[in-house]
Amino acid sequence: MQVVFESVSQQLSQAAGDVRRLFHGRGHCYEGFEHLVIDWFAPVAVVRLYRAAEPQWLEALFEGLRQFEQVEALVFQQRARGQEAVNEVVWGEVAAEQVATELGLNYQVKPQKNQNSGLFLDMRNGRQWVREHANGLRVLNLFSYTCSFSVAALAGGAEHVVNVDMARNMLNVGRENHRLNTMDASQVTYLGYDIFRSWKRIRQLGPYGVVVIDPPSFQPGSFIAEKDYRRVVRRLPELVEVGGTVVACHNDPATGTAFIIELMQQECPGFRFEGRLANPEDFPEQEPEKGLKVMLFKREL
Ligand SMILES: C[S@@+](CC[C@H](N)C(=O)[O-])C[C@H]1O[C@@H](n2cnc3c(N)ncnc32)[C@H](O)[C@@H]1O
Repeated sequence: MQVVFESVSQQLSQAAGDVRRLFHGRGHCYEGFEHLVIDWFAPVAVVRLYRAAEPQWLEALFEGLRQFEQVEALVFQQRARGQEAVNEVVWGEVAAEQVATELGLNYQVKPQKNQNSGLFLDMRNGRQWVREHANGLRVLNLFSYTCSFSVAALAGGAEHVVNVDMARNMLNVGRENHRLNTMDASQVTYLGYDIFRSWKRIRQLGPYGVVVIDPPSFQPGSFIAEKDYRRVVRRLPELVEVGGTVVACHNDPATGTAFIIELMQQECPGFRFEGRLANPEDFPEQEPEKGLKVMLFKREL
């Protein structure tokens, strides 16, 4: 287990108070630990376990984490396929919600609630790209969840951001995230609808200089990447202005970058593949095609 604590130690020292993945076993770089990840929402660490483990093994993990004085509280999340994640506080005080920081921006997170804490930590470089390229542009944030891309875009000088997500409670967290960064509410639109029923409204609010597409891989009844990603891509010519960029995200280990590049070639021949963003260094991947893929496409025609 020493390899886990070495990673935790290294990442804590680099976090400088920001959110961070302290251990990323799911990237298959640490044999025997593929079922373990540890996230950091200072001062709370969240252990997420993707299969059951022996009580002694867990006890040793928890005891080892207790040795890091920065870790003032520990949450344990047991995940099981097809079931709600179960979270428990192992030690320390964990508020129902807290403010986490990433690169100088604030986000509300709930380390002991839900399967995800409110901020996808692997998307740090995607948010940073948007922040660096949104100046003066209208931005469309599809599958916006808690609107972290929107916060990053406005921090980068975006003129206006349109966020679309059918989970209205998540858009409410998005509103709070904008408040936490003292952003101008008049520069943000929230559409709490199914994307596939909202194209008319989405189009009316465009065209856009940046469009972010960050759907789930598999959410039956709402979005299944294999068949539905194409339905989104098909709409891009009527949404993106010439010279604009699409940030297409895909997190399904079963299909790689080629899946999205081919869809774009077939449905959007006027868009050129510009490249793939590197994932943050706290998400090492044995096979990068299986991890998060964030790809850029520029509209040329
Ligand atoms: C992976 S999360 C998006 C993460 C987000 N982009 C971020 O940066 O934090 C996927 C989101 O897609 C939303 N969603 C799934 N299917 C949808 C649909 N058909 N219409 C609108 N939202 C949908 C879910 O509610 C969920 O919030």
